[in-house]
Amino acid sequence: MKLLITGGAGFIGSHVVRRFVQNYPSYHIYNLDALTYAGNMENLKDIENNSNYSFIKGDITDEKFINALFSEHRFDGVIHLAAESHVDRSITDPLAFAKTNILGTMILLNAFKETWKGNWSDKLFYHVSTDEVYGSLGETGLFEETTPYDPNSPYSASKASSDHFVRAYGETYGLPYVISNCSNNYGQNQFPEKLIPLFINNILTDKPLPVYGDGKYTRDWLYVLDHAIAIDLVFHKGQTTETYNIGGFNEWQNIDLMKLLCDQMDLKLKRPVGTSQKLITYVKDRPGHDLRYAIDASKINKELGWKPSVTFEQGLSITIDWYLNNEEWLSNVTSGSYQNYYTKQYS
Ligand code: NAD
Ligand code: TYD
Repeated sequence: MKLLITGGAGFIGSHVVRRFVQNYPSYHIYNLDALTYAGNMENLKDIENNSNYSFIKGDITDEKFINALFSEHRFDGVIHLAAESHVDRSITDPLAFAKTNILGTMILLNAFKETWKGNWSDKLFYHVSTDEVYGSLGETGLFEETTPYDPNSPYSASKASSDHFVRAYGETYGLPYVISNCSNNYGQNQFPEKLIPLFINNILTDKPLPVYGDGKYTRDWLYVLDHAIAIDLVFHKGQTTETYNIGGFNEWQNIDLMKLLCDQMDLKLKRPVGTSQKLITYVKDRPGHDLRYAIDASKINKELGWKPSVTFEQGLSITIDWYLNNEEWLSNVTSGSYQNYYTKQYS
């Protein structure tokens, strides 16, 4: 099995790559990543010399390069995670999201189609997507696999579009695919632009903790290693042409999560509980901010036997410990261009 994983130097991708390299020694894993600001070779240092692993630096929007790569390696499977992934950045630079998330996905789909030309009964294109494609929920209800798409941000619109193209290739050409739509991930190696690592970094550097709007927005949080397990299951046991929703059964209003995180940080840093909460600062809201995401993950639970393996408190504790023990990783990724991003976003 020659398996291409795209975006493997990023947050979720690095955990997926590690899992496949370690658990499937008979597969060869090719990690294709452009190493944008979000990609980091440090994330996979521990497995970089494994004999069943190769890293390829390249851009999924470079059609010639991708076609040549598929001709050379004839990948049996693709797990596609490479994307621009941050909603706030999509608001300031929507075209970059259209290019990578839509065009990049189409270029991969085309290359896969041209490689196998219909002889693909044992092949698979797995597209990793987000629950944000479903739009925003009110106070009640859950996203099911049949919930109509209703994306609100340039990020979610670009992911929704890429999902549609994957399905369209399935319908039109018979390309074997599977899609999963997952809720908010957290865990080690997440770039500190997303809520949890941003707050951890700001607490460590004694900076304000920016709460968008009234802080009453709700997200469902899943520990990243549980997402990697789910991806493994969907890749090996999922039905082609099906979609699987993946979630943590773990809804939190932002402000409650932020307070829990602050208090856990104070305990870990051995200082009076309440110290970090003083940094909480209400700031201007994100435009088009989705009120609530919540996933019904009963299909993957019933069909593939998946459920989260850790509680939120356990996952958060492991995550905080990792950032506390990897301050060098954190200071490396927050130097340079991160400072410009931060000033622009939060000044
Ligand atoms: P990330 O931003 O941490 O990593 C993205 C990776 O893709 C980086 O390594 C980056 O270098 C690479 N990349 C970006 N543009 C590329 C290009 N043009 N060519 C090749 N590589 C490129 O993202 P993440 O949080 O790990 O998310 C991975 C995937 O999972 C995305 O498709 C995202 O939409 C999806 N997802 C994320 C979450 C979440 O909470 N983070 C939840 C559900 C789904
Ligand atoms: P984020 O981690 O960006 O994920 P997403 O927007 O994809 O759900 O944000 C999670 C929630 O936290 C979202 O409601 C926006 C909010 N948020 C803040 O209040 N302040 C911040 O600085 C950030 C980055 C997010």
